[in-house]
Amino acid sequence: MELRAVRGMNDILPEEVERWHKLEGAFRLHAELHGYAEVRTPLLEPTELFRHQMGETTDVVEKEMYSFERHGDQLTVRPEGTAGAARAYVEHAVHAKEPITRWYYLGAMFRGERPAKGRYRQFYQAGCELFGDPGPLCDAETIDLIAGFLERIGVGDFVVHVNSLGSAGTRERYREALLAHYTPRKDRLSEDSQRRLEKNPLRILDSKDPRDHEVSRDAPSILDLLDDADRAHWDGVLRCLDVLGVNYVVDPSLVRGLDYYTRTLFEVKATSGDLGSQSTLGGGGRYDNMIAGLGGPSVPAIGFAMGMERLLTLMPGDTSRRRPGCFLAPLGQVGADRALLLAKQLRALGVSVELDGRGGRLKSMLRRADALGARLCVILGDAEMERGVLQIKDLAAHVQEEIPLDGAARVLADRALESSPGGGQRGAR
Ligand code: HAM
Repeated sequence: MELRAVRGMNDILPEEVERWHKLEGAFRLHAELHGYAEVRTPLLEPTELFRHQMGETTDVVEKEMYSFERHGDQLTVRPEGTAGAARAYVEHAVHAKEPITRWYYLGAMFRGERPAKGRYRQFYQAGCELFGDPGPLCDAETIDLIAGFLERIGVGDFVVHVNSLGSAGTRERYREALLAHYTPRKDRLSEDSQRRLEKNPLRILDSKDPRDHEVSRDAPSILDLLDDADRAHWDGVLRCLDVLGVNYVVDPSLVRGLDYYTRTLFEVKATSGDLGSQSTLGGGGRYDNMIAGLGGPSVPAIGFAMGMERLLTLMPGDTSRRRPGCFLAPLGQVGADRALLLAKQLRALGVSVELDGRGGRLKSMLRRADALGARLCVILGDAEMERGVLQIKDLAAHVQEEIPLDGAARVLADRALESSPGGGQRGAR
C-alpha cells in the first residue's frame, strides 16, 4: 500500500525550512517591536467556540472544519487563531491584569477547502490580536504593522483594501437593505446564497460563486448606512492611515468570510506574483463583541492573520541550508574512534560537524564535504593517527596542512568559527 500525505497537507523539507525560519524570525521581531508577545493556544478547541464566534452560516463552519467527538467532547482542529486567543484571554481574566494586551501567534490551521496553489487544508498563519483599545488610531497602526512587515520581508507589490461594517445597529439596517436588494433577484443566486438570504445576507457578498457576484454587483454599500459614531471612527481610521502613508483603497464590497467582525475590516492583496485567485496575503478587522460573547467583560479587540505559504511564495531569496563548519573523514578504525571524540569536542565548542562514518574512500568523502559546503574537511587516516597528527583541507582556500592531534579541537574550532560565526555558513546551495 502506498501511503501519501493527506491531500492539501504538505511536508516542509529541510531545504525549505530555512526560509520558514527567516519568515518566522522577521515576524517575531516585527511584532515584538510593536509591543506584541507570543501566545500559544491548543490546536484543539471545543467545536462550539468556532461555531459561535465565526458564525453558523460561514463557509468555514458549514463546510470546512475538521470536527470529531472524543471522550464525550465535541472538538475541532482550529481553523484560525482568533477565537482561541479570545477564549484564552477570557479564561485567564487577562483584562484584570493589564488594560491593553497585544498577542501574536504563529502556527498551523486546518480547513477542508478545495486545495489549490496557495490554498491548503493545513496551512500556517502569522497573526496578531490586540485587546482593550477601541480607538481608530489602533486600527490604523494594526494595518500599518502588516504593511511594514511585508516591506520588511521584501514583498513590495500589495494594496490594502479597507471597509467598515459598522456596529450592530448599522449592520441590522444593512441586513434589511441587502434583503430588499436580493429578495427580488433570489432566483439568480446560487443555492447556498438562496439558503443564506434570510439568515445572513451579508455572506452572499463574499460568496465565491460567479452567479452571486453578478447579483451583488449593484448591491447597496454599507458605508452609506454608517451611524454617526461608526462614521466618526471610520473617518478617524482613514485619517490615521493617511498620516502613516499607507497605500490603501476603500472597498465597500469587502465583508470577509467570518461573522465576528465589527467596524474596520481590511485585507492585503498581492498585486504581482503568481498566486492567482489566492492573492489575499492576510486580513483582519475589529471584533468588539467577541470577548463579551465569550462571557468576559466588554473589551474591544482587533487583529489580523497572514497566510505564511502565500508570503513565502512572494518573499525573495533562495532556499538555503546550514553548512557544516567541519566535515570529518576517518579512513580506518583508529581514525573513526578518534573522529567520534573530536566531533563531540567540536560541537561542545559550538562548531557544527558532520562525521562520515560509512568507511568509504577519501575521494567520495571529499566530494560529499564539498557538496555540503563544509568549510574544513578533516582527514583522519590510521597512519596519521600513529604519528599523532591529522590533515585539514580548507575547501574554500584549497590548501591542506597537517596539525597535531593534541589540541586539534581548539585549532579547528578557531578556524571554522573565524570563517563563519555559529560554526556553519548559510547561503544559497
Ligand atoms: P482569514 O481571512 O480566514 O482570517 O485568514 C487569514 C489569511 O490566512 C488569509 O488571508 C490567507 O492568507 C490565509 N489562509 C486562509 N485560508 C487558507 C488556506 N486554506 N490555505 C492557505 N492560506 C490560507 C482569519 O483567519 C482571521 N482569524 C484573521 C483575524 C485575526 N481577524 C481578526 N484577528
